[in-house]
Amino acid sequence: MKIVMLGAPGAGKGTQARLISEKYGIPQISTGDIFRANIRDNTELGQRAKSYMDQGLLVPDQVTCDLVVDRIRRDDCAGGYILDGFPRTIPQAQALTKALSDHGSRIDYAIDVEVPDDNIVQRMSGRRACPKCGATFHIRYKMPQTEGVCDTCGSELIQREDDHAQTVQKRLDVYHSQTQPLIQYYREQGVLHTVDGTREMNTVFNDICAALEES
Ligand code: AP5
Ligand code: MG
Repeated sequence: MKIVMLGAPGAGKGTQARLISEKYGIPQISTGDIFRANIRDNTELGQRAKSYMDQGLLVPDQVTCDLVVDRIRRDDCAGGYILDGFPRTIPQAQALTKALSDHGSRIDYAIDVEVPDDNIVQRMSGRRACPKCGATFHIRYKMPQTEGVCDTCGSELIQREDDHAQTVQKRLDVYHSQTQPLIQYYREQGVLHTVDGTREMNTVFNDICAALEES
């Protein structure tokens, strides 16, 4: 089961990808989380990615594609995976399609989590993230059991640097110009499923499971 998550920043890709990963036992691969881990560890990749991420811009395609193609060749991806935040441009999608078709494979499902821009800013301002394990919470919609502490690994939660209102707006602009065309790309491949992401998290998840299980 090879799944791509589509949707605007803050639509709930990461939240849903994590639930899918737990239910179906396949890894969640989040390019954003990989970049943030590299920034935290101050690697060369992290230093390069940070300059783009802080501005709400995309990290260059070549860097991102090499990273993902390398990651999906690892053993734990043999039974499938969920790509969360990749692809994000048409060249990235084409590179993924080619890397898979070279091995006689393809993406099985592209799940588009639809949320209007108006809801996004509110979601981002309340998000709290775990810098260690990548778990995501919300001060109103998904509160951790202990305020400011990750339920999964006990680390202190942070507010992401790119979640400030101005950067969120830039990320939304970048989404509409560079990422939204992927919806049509995957529709043409016959694998697109659209879910209404404005509803409660578990309702969204049930819709996604129905799409994964009926087709
Ligand atoms: P990335 O980390 O992928 O950020 P993003 O796409 O902007 O998406 P987010 O992680 O912000 O949102 P999400 O959809 O995962 O929502 P979440 O589940 O957290 O990328 C960051 C940066 O890295 C990019 O800007 C770029 O610079 C770079 N990058 C990454 N991938 C790249 C690539 N392929 N190419 C180039 N550059 C790349 O939910 C948001 C909040 O809402 C949470 O607080 C959550 O609890 C809450 N929530 C979720 N669902 C619901 C619901 N149904 N109801 C109420 N609240 C909800
Ligand atoms: Mg995310």
